[in-house]
Amino acid sequence: MKSTIIQRMLFPLICTLLIFSCTKKQEVELNQIQKNIIVGFSQIGAESAWRTCNTQSMRDAASASGIQLLYDNAEQKQENQIKAIRSFIVYQVDVIVFVPIVQDGWDNVLREAKDAGIPVIIIDRKMRVADESLFTAYIGADHVEEGRNAARFLLKKFKDENQNYRILEILGTAGSSVADGRYTGFREIINTDKRFTITTSIDGDFLRSRGKEIAETYLMENTKLPFDILYSHNDGMALGFLDVLENTPILPGKDIVIVSVDAEQAAIDALKEGKINCVVECNPKIGDLVIDMVKQLTEGKSIPRVTYVNENVFTEWDDLSLLPLRGY
Ligand code: AHR
Repeated sequence: MKSTIIQRMLFPLICTLLIFSCTKKQEVELNQIQKNIIVGFSQIGAESAWRTCNTQSMRDAASASGIQLLYDNAEQKQENQIKAIRSFIVYQVDVIVFVPIVQDGWDNVLREAKDAGIPVIIIDRKMRVADESLFTAYIGADHVEEGRNAARFLLKKFKDENQNYRILEILGTAGSSVADGRYTGFREIINTDKRFTITTSIDGDFLRSRGKEIAETYLMENTKLPFDILYSHNDGMALGFLDVLENTPILPGKDIVIVSVDAEQAAIDALKEGKINCVVECNPKIGDLVIDMVKQLTEGKSIPRVTYVNENVFTEWDDLSLLPLRGY
């Protein structure tokens, strides 16, 4: 049947209307889906200002997207995280997001999530699983690079070729990928220079109170600090160490050079006062990125296996007068 001239003239208009109404409908459906997305989020606790900011960043990003976030605080216990993940499975959430407090021991619960068809995104910390298909993606920092950056600062700072330097390292939570990464990356660089020796490496569990205890122990045992450098795996422990030094004649930043990781406001302030020499940033504000990936997953799109966030290094040589407040 031949079409009339009027029919032919109307055809493009009808098509446009059809396409428009289709896009509009899809858009409405998409918004509807996003509103109904439920994410189960297992956080490890609130051991540092960094962690509190990380939690807030997830909460803000979820609420800005109309996503329901079921939040659980594991209070530093892996078994609490496992329980939380199991309850998210029973609840049939759309996506599980969690921070693995330590690297090992997740296989069983993740298999349960996989059998239930729930994708898992790990954030901030990595883990070791026998079957890599048990989780979809990692989003967070490159902790090995953070350790390298801490060591690079020291190599640049100490110019005297005939001097030797003793390092006290305060480690983060034992068994965590963060502590492992900061340990490995630091050694990768520092061991290239014979002047530096890590004379003590001690567990601080990322706690300010442990930083204090460690400083007290070494000050009680010795009349002088037996170290030239403190490398602390986070700001909290470095600040605890500083709390103790404040009441001694030892000058932080001069008698003992201090490098730490996170870039909390309090550490940046100490850097500006000359009490800390270098702060390697670890960025906790990853909520928007994570929620964006959650949305993509629920839309059936694939997401990158590993996403590292950009991070800075702040040193005593930088002009930090214009640095915006850190927010943590
Ligand atoms: O996993 C990131 C680390 O955990 C941060 O460096 C530390 O402050 C936190 O508690």
